Amino acid sequence: MDTVTQTSPKTGLTAAEQQYPLPPSRWDASVYTDPDRYRSELTAVFHHSWFPVHPSRDLPRARDFLTWDRIGQSIVITRLDDGSVRAWHNVCQHRGARLVNGSGNCGRARFTCPWHGFVYDLEGMVGAVPLRESFDEEALRGLRAPAVQVTEWAGWIWLALSDDVPPLLDHLGAIGTELAGYGLEGFTTRFRTSVRLKVNWKIAVDGFNETWHVPFTHPHTLAGLVMWRDAVLRISSPHSWMTLPIRGYTERAKATDDHRASHLCHYLVFPNTIFSCFPTHLQMWSAWPVSVDETELCAYEVVGPPPAGKTAEQWDRHNRRDWQQFLDVLNEDAEVINDISTVIGSLGFRGSMFNTAESRLTAFHREIARRIGEEEPA
Ligand code: FES
Ligand SMILES: [Fe+2]
Repeated sequence: MDTVTQTSPKTGLTAAEQQYPLPPSRWDASVYTDPDRYRSELTAVFHHSWFPVHPSRDLPRARDFLTWDRIGQSIVITRLDDGSVRAWHNVCQHRGARLVNGSGNCGRARFTCPWHGFVYDLEGMVGAVPLRESFDEEALRGLRAPAVQVTEWAGWIWLALSDDVPPLLDHLGAIGTELAGYGLEGFTTRFRTSVRLKVNWKIAVDGFNETWHVPFTHPHTLAGLVMWRDAVLRISSPHSWMTLPIRGYTERAKATDDHRASHLCHYLVFPNTIFSCFPTHLQMWSAWPVSVDETELCAYEVVGPPPAGKTAEQWDRHNRRDWQQFLDVLNEDAEVINDISTVIGSLGFRGSMFNTAESRLTAFHREIARRIGEEEPA
């Protein structure tokens, strides 16, 4: 029998389909360059998703606050005296001034607008109003900077800009179950960096969600480690993930059914965040749109407690080496990706074609097309 068409009794899929689940697809170059489409993506995709925006430990104490400025929005995130977090739009309800800058501890538990002095509490409610009697009292009743959905999970503060987004764990689905298995609440963010890329955010996301560029882009850093031919891709709409065997690690891992214990597991939390996980440590990064042709990549090294047999010092050295290697790999990716900016307007580039090994890219672009109400190209 032809081995290619042999199907698994368990899944009914051929071996090729199990590894690479979607057929090839093609996408017009305009998905990366059209400013109107970019604006549609911001509203239809970014305003309706959950994002991990800060490690929880960036807000360790009661009355700590920070401001988050991305995708054309500014959000204040605060920790209340009872330990819970709140988030609200950083804009004064009087005449639209920016209320809060930077981060810190707000000992008095209130923020005063720098323009005419409206006072806001840690939850964004308007309290004192100068010249109160000169306003329409009705307009001031219950006035607040609009709240934003916020929750803490797996060691991160997550935001969703719309109220119609389902609860975080419903949004994450199977990816949430996967990530929950790592016990990330007990991990710490050890290193972080950010890098500007001169391309559309989807080029950045595409670049990190397939592995067969490894022998070409990363011949000296990753090619000897990542067994990229054996990556198994999975679609878990709107997210996706893959398991990657690692030379010298996967063979050594004790026989286990749990891929998390034996493989590098690489998850895309739709639309823009990747968790690349080992059981003991991980890298997480998000591709934030800045404009149609600019992206800011924010990356973190997140580490668990020292594994059995390692001292704190050994573990620290290991984490430093790991982070340096990640930065080297990131630089190699950034070089290729930034060079795309010099040819993105080329008359010779009509669009991208994704093969089956790029099934995660097909799933990602299909999801975006669906959300902005576009037909998938034939
Ligand atoms: S704009 Fe804030 S008080 Fe006037
Ligand atoms: Fe890469």
